[in-house]
Amino acid sequence: MGKTIDTAEYGDLEALETALLGELDAAGDLAALEDFRVGALGKKGRISALMKTLGQMEPDARKSFGQSVNGLKQRVSDALEARKSDLGEAALAARLATETADVTLPVRPGPEMMGRIHPISQVWDELTEIFADMGFSVAEGPDIETEEKNFDKLNIPASHPARQEMDTFYFPTKEDGSRKLLRTHTSPVQIRTMEAQQPPIRIIAPGRVYRSDYDQTHTPMFHQVEGLVIDDSTHMGHLKWCLEEFCKAFFEVDKVKMKFRASHFPFTEPSMEVDIQYAEVGNEVRMGEGDKWMEILGCGMVHPNVLRAVGYDPEKVQGWAFGVGIERITTLKYGMPDLRPMFASDMRWLKHYGFLPFDVPSLAGGLSS
Ligand code: PHE
Repeated sequence: MGKTIDTAEYGDLEALETALLGELDAAGDLAALEDFRVGALGKKGRISALMKTLGQMEPDARKSFGQSVNGLKQRVSDALEARKSDLGEAALAARLATETADVTLPVRPGPEMMGRIHPISQVWDELTEIFADMGFSVAEGPDIETEEKNFDKLNIPASHPARQEMDTFYFPTKEDGSRKLLRTHTSPVQIRTMEAQQPPIRIIAPGRVYRSDYDQTHTPMFHQVEGLVIDDSTHMGHLKWCLEEFCKAFFEVDKVKMKFRASHFPFTEPSMEVDIQYAEVGNEVRMGEGDKWMEILGCGMVHPNVLRAVGYDPEKVQGWAFGVGIERITTLKYGMPDLRPMFASDMRWLKHYGFLPFDVPSLAGGLSS
């Protein structure tokens, strides 16, 4: 038999209740409450010990004392539960108070906000978006080209003056007499595309091109976007419409003024160069007004000799092509006075003229915003 408890030891039950409730109030956290529960209501706790003394009592005394102890047990349990829920709420409130995140605080910019998209890459994406919307797909060719594709098949024979004018970078001549070169324009992609597929063709080919030239408006590497459309009936009206639509979309204006000037390229006949009108107002460039003109592209109807060179029949198919200088339209759209810093990798220039990586150009969302 365990320790017997003399009820007189506690004076009366009221005193015990007062003592227990006082202890309960003093319990400051959930761990202290658990200790209290074990000490009062647990198997060997003080109230349980009282219950165990009942067996040794007279039946009458047992009944009334039993009821009193049960009442005490019930009130202490209730008080324990109430205190538990109070402390639980207080603990939650304390957590909520300390673990707050102020969503109105400015976000510290991460590394993805430090870098910038180069204006050329941005414009590349912009023009791809515009031409894709008109139904053009994107074609590619290598930077290192053959003389055949860069010149011969484009109706520029070795004797042609254009071949000397181009300031070409050549690789050393091989044993078989052939030599490769850095493509001087994106036009060889016309040849590659036509040799690989049959009309109808509707492609653009953005890419790097190279010429040995360096001053305020020329760098030895620059970018062009070639366009080529071939089918059985497309004509110069389509070419003109396409370029006008492109310029309006690219410069994000309702109206542009373009001048189609007769010119000469060996691979087109007739050939034209296109100038676009603009005004410089302070630092700002405005399209479609003013008295300044900038040449931005060459174009024309694909020469029959070029169609023949790729195995097409010029009696059955025809088409047009254009080549736009990407740096030209970039400096014009974004108001850059000098071409050379484009390739100087100066972070200050990039921070000023570059674009945030997540601002992907789209016709629906805005090209340059
Ligand atoms: N390839 C020409 C150049 O680099 C541009 C051009 C392309 C002209 C297509 C007409 C047609 O100057």
